[in-house]
Amino acid sequence: MLFRREEIAARVAEIGAQISHEFAGESILLVGVLKGAAVFLADLARSISVETTFDFVAISSYKGVKTSGAVRLIKDLDTPIGGRNVILVEDILDTGLTLVFLRRLLQQHKPKTLKIATCLDKPARRLEKIDADYVAFTIPNHFVVGYGMDYQERFRNLPDIRIFNPDESPNSH
Ligand code: IMP
Repeated sequence: MLFRREEIAARVAEIGAQISHEFAGESILLVGVLKGAAVFLADLARSISVETTFDFVAISSYKGVKTSGAVRLIKDLDTPIGGRNVILVEDILDTGLTLVFLRRLLQQHKPKTLKIATCLDKPARRLEKIDADYVAFTIPNHFVVGYGMDYQERFRNLPDIRIFNPDESPNSH
């Protein structure tokens, strides 16, 4: 077990309070990266007290050739983001390829502000120069599942964040 649901809830509430404070009197558009960020976005949104709307993007990354930066958009924004306060919400900031690609894409639409919120940050694996503005937890180089994060599409529904060990099922504890 890496982070229990209570611990996650407490950190997410802190980040929500910080965002609410920083954007007091303004409105926010949360842009979640499907599918991993869905659970974090749902919790974060409910801990933000300023006016908030949602949108989602989806990308596909070619795992075998990740280092070449082959990230492709497979679901675009539904909402115009020009002049909006946008927070890009991701499950894990790992190599940084995904968020560098998405940040560049969103910047082209000229938002008023563009911030990045990530549930987990794995700085040891970074290939691109990018940092998140809001990080729930910084972790070493473990493969994790739960709280939206998957191994081959499984375990996204686990309420805690666990280190994935292929020899034991994360469901069994
Ligand atoms: P990157 O920053 O472009 O390398 O990619 C981040 C994405 O890789 C995340 O959004 C996840 O979908 C996936 N990912 C990276 N590390 C993990 C992990 O430990 N568990 C599950 N998915 C991961």
